Amino acid sequence: MNAADGAFRLDRKVVLITGASRGIGRAIAVEAAEAGAEGVVLTARRPAGLEAVRAEIAPIGRPVECVAADVTDEESVDAMVRHAMDAFGRIDVLVNNVGGASFKVPLADTRAGGWRKTLELNLTSAFLTSRAVIRTWRDTPGDAGRNIVTVGSSGSFHGRPELSAYVSGKHALVGLTKTLARELAPSGARSNLVAPHLVETDLTTAQQQPEFRDESIAQIPMGRWAEAEEVARVVRFLASDAASYVTGACVLVDGGHAA
Ligand SMILES: NC(=O)c1ccc[n+]([C@@H]2O[C@H](COP(=O)([O-])OP(=O)(O)OC[C@H]3O[C@@H](n4cnc5c(N)ncnc54)[C@H](OP(=O)(O)O)[C@@H]3O)[C@@H](O)[C@H]2O)c1
Repeated sequence: MNAADGAFRLDRKVVLITGASRGIGRAIAVEAAEAGAEGVVLTARRPAGLEAVRAEIAPIGRPVECVAADVTDEESVDAMVRHAMDAFGRIDVLVNNVGGASFKVPLADTRAGGWRKTLELNLTSAFLTSRAVIRTWRDTPGDAGRNIVTVGSSGSFHGRPELSAYVSGKHALVGLTKTLARELAPSGARSNLVAPHLVETDLTTAQQQPEFRDESIAQIPMGRWAEAEEVARVVRFLASDAASYVTGACVLVDGGHAA
């Protein structure tokens, strides 16, 4: 390994990943451990999934802490960040990965409650978690390796029929990412967004039906969906010091879908 390779590692970073019990978050957790993270904090609501990921990461030999938390709940988020601070003394990288859509209907049929819940899951979660972590940075300023990576979506840049709340939340994450980039830059900390298109996870169970899948693949120049690991590797790059001059960036991981 030469010095340049070292910049892509996460050796001296404690990484907290939300939604780490499955799907893309799980892949990011494994990638962080393989990149040598000093500590990996796994969070989601249900502990069982977190413990399964902890067991998967164990052979890599990096310290792992699991914290059950609901990232739409202010008190739960603050307690989650306190838990991580007690365990490792600091958080260097926050990956805001939680998000999703639990219904697909035209705007005219969207209930106000469903709209609010979707924005809480996709947008407020990132606000609450970023705020709690940045407050820990404020107390000990000056470490240039700190950063936030937020998982958006190709829906951060394109409209999608019947997904107005999800797409609105994902678009808003671009605004949050860019605003944080400017707010944090004087301290040397960074904020970026990764925007996957389609990945086979529990979130996309409905889209995995052959008809939708074939139709969606026809729109992707690379002719396939992404592997969760392909998203995780981009997150790792942005989280690492190799991306030391990258902030406010929104990186599509979409096989050329938007090209
Ligand atoms: N899959 C795709 O094709 C795709 C495409 C574009 C963007 N994305 C984005 O990528 C991110 C991850 O998606 P995914 O497909 O990996 O999702 P997923 O398989 O549904 O996993 C979601 C994760 O978030 C956790 N979670 C859900 N609600 C939570 C809450 N309120 N508080 C804390 N944790 C919560 C889940 O665990 P618990 O249920 O135990 O809490 C789970 O670990 C999302 O932001 C999604 O919008 C995905």
